[in-house]
Amino acid sequence: MKVLFVCLGNICRSPTAEVVMRDLVDQRGLADRIEIDSAGTGDWHIGEPPDPRATEAAARNGIELTGTARQVRPSDITDFDLVIAMDSSNHADLVAMSDGKTDHITLLRELAGDGDRDVPDPYFGGEDGFDEALEIIRRNCRVLLDRVEAELPSGGAAR
Ligand code: 4NP
Repeated sequence: MKVLFVCLGNICRSPTAEVVMRDLVDQRGLADRIEIDSAGTGDWHIGEPPDPRATEAAARNGIELTGTARQVRPSDITDFDLVIAMDSSNHADLVAMSDGKTDHITLLRELAGDGDRDVPDPYFGGEDGFDEALEIIRRNCRVLLDRVEAELPSGGAAR
């Protein structure tokens, strides 16, 4: 199962989701069954590490944020089993890039059944926004993984 998280710049929300999800996957012993990556719809930050404010918010919560920003490409839409957008604008961009098959392109908060649709973009705001985004991402990734695990071919890993 291949899961791709997508935001605008690939330096704040989607790298956070990638690392949070990978931690959860490791904790559940599913690392050899679920592959995780992230990308941005924009090209401004290609090759850059995550935004220091996102790295600090993650560190405050015991998470080491890593990664190098890349831009999403049309082949990602066919290569990944689940393409998970952080907000509605990212989602619309992904649908526009697709060849019309869009069932696997979803919003993180919609998939996980959270109230709002969007993980707010923290880039132009203060530090609080990064803590809030992390909290939303953690909560929704737990629910997302419950669902993904239930849908793995054997119904989940042997524990
Ligand atoms: P992200 O945040 O999409 O969560 O990585 C942003 C990063 C960069 C920009 C906007 C949002 N930007 O305009 O450069």
